[in-house]
Amino acid sequence: VNLAHRKKVLRQISYGLYVVTTRADDLVAGGTITWLSQCSMKPPLVMVGVQQDSALRRVIDRARVFAVNLIAADQRALAHAFFKPAVLHHGLLNGYACVTGKTGAPLLTDAPGWFECRVLDELTRGDHVVYVAEVVDAVAQRDDPPLTLRDTGLSYGG
Ligand SMILES: Cc1cc2nc3c(=O)[nH]c(=O)nc-3n(C[C@H](O)[C@H](O)[C@H](O)COP(=O)(O)O)c2cc1C
Repeated sequence: VNLAHRKKVLRQISYGLYVVTTRADDLVAGGTITWLSQCSMKPPLVMVGVQQDSALRRVIDRARVFAVNLIAADQRALAHAFFKPAVLHHGLLNGYACVTGKTGAPLLTDAPGWFECRVLDELTRGDHVVYVAEVVDAVAQRDDPPLTLRDTGLSYGG
C-alpha cells in the first residue's frame, strides 16, 4: 500500500462533528468526535469510534450509555470547547448549559438536537473502541445545517 495515498483517501471520507457526552454516577466525560454513523435502520443503531485511552471511553464503559449532541455549522466554538476534557463547573459543561437526559448523560441545550444511546456491543481493535448502540431517545430543536469536519479545516485519521 502507498502510505501517502492511503492517508489521502482515508482523509477524503466525509464526516460530521458531534459532542458525545456521558455520565456514570459522579463521573462526567465528553468529547468532540467525528467517527460516528448510523449503522442499522430497524432498529435504528449507531456506531461510534472512541479513543481507547480516553476519559470518554472509561466513563462510557461504566455508564453503558451516552448522548450525541449535534453541532450546527455556526457552532465551531462548541466543537473546539470539547476537544479538551469535559469539566462540569457550576452546572456548565465546558462552559455550556446542560440538562440531564433520560440516560443520565448531559445534554447540551445550545445544540440543534441530540439523541441518547444505550450500548449494545463494543469491538476493541487498533487504538479505538467501536460502540454499537441503540437510540433510546431523541430531541430535534432546530434544523440547522451541521458542522462538517471539512468546514473546520481539521483532520482525524488517515
Ligand atoms: C478533529 C478531531 C476529531 C476527533 N474525533 C474523535 C473521534 O472520532 N473519536 C474520539 O474518541 N476522539 C476524537 N477526537 C478527540 C476528542 O476530541 C478528545 O480529545 C477525546 O475524547 C479524548 O478526551 P478525553 O480523554 O477527555 O475523553 C477528535 C479530535 C479532533 C481534533
